[in-house]
This record gives sequence, C-alpha cells and structure tokens, in this order.
Amino acid sequence: MEPLSHLVKVSIPNYLAGLPIPESIGGWFRLGVRDWISLIPPTAMLVGFGYMSYKAFCPLARGPPCGLVNLSVKKDVSKVVDTVDIEDISEKAVFCRCWRSKNWPYCDGAHGVHNQEMNDNVGPLVVTKKKA
Ligand code: FES
Repeated sequence: MEPLSHLVKVSIPNYLAGLPIPESIGGWFRLGVRDWISLIPPTAMLVGFGYMSYKAFCPLARGPPCGLVNLSVKKDVSKVVDTVDIEDISEKAVFCRCWRSKNWPYCDGAHGVHNQEMNDNVGPLVVTKKKA
C-alpha cells in the first residue's frame, strides 16, 4: 500500500503543482509551447475520464445491449410464442425473423432498414401452401 499512498499523497500533488496553470485568463495567452505541451497529458486524461464517466453513467450514451435480439416485440412477456394455424393461411404467409416488424409475427419489410443499418442479411420466412 505504500507505493499507492506515495503516489496519491506525494507524486500526483507534486505533478499537479508543477503544471503551468496560469492564475488569470490573460495568463493562458502568455503560455509558451512547452507549457502547452506539458498540459496535453493531464487534459487528455481528464477528457478520457469524462468520456468514460459519460458512457458509464448516462443512459442516453448507451445503445441497446449487445446481443439482444428482440428490442420491442411483446416486451411484457417472459417468452414470445406465437401460434398460427396452417389452415388460416390462404396461399402464402410471410413471417418476420428479424424481430423489427411492427406487425409481428408477420414481416412488414422492416428487415430492409435493419439490414442497411447493421450490414446484416436477415429476411422473412415465407410459408406457402401447396394447391391440391
Ligand atoms: S420485418 Fe422482420 S423479416 Fe421482414
């Protein structure tokens, strides 16, 4: 623990105290090239820390969870199960396999937008009935 303690209590404060932070706004204009260069690492660290905090704590910064297939269909049930009687299909039925259809379980063409945005290639399941 002593190295950590020394880092927090001595090294970091000494480093920060040595940074050329001016005491007035006009002082920023009098900084030299070497001063600006010495400010790059702590500035980059602050920006990186801010960005990581934003990604970690801001819900708007997070996209849908990775690996989640169903983003909107019947989210109030624990498992989406649909039953279609084959006798109710006249000649052909087109079922969604991309989970983006607003007319679930039937395809409404939303897979086209999904495929464009995600560089994917999913399409519907087409069920046809043989004519007797
Ligand atoms: S809308 Fe999902 S496969 Fe067509």
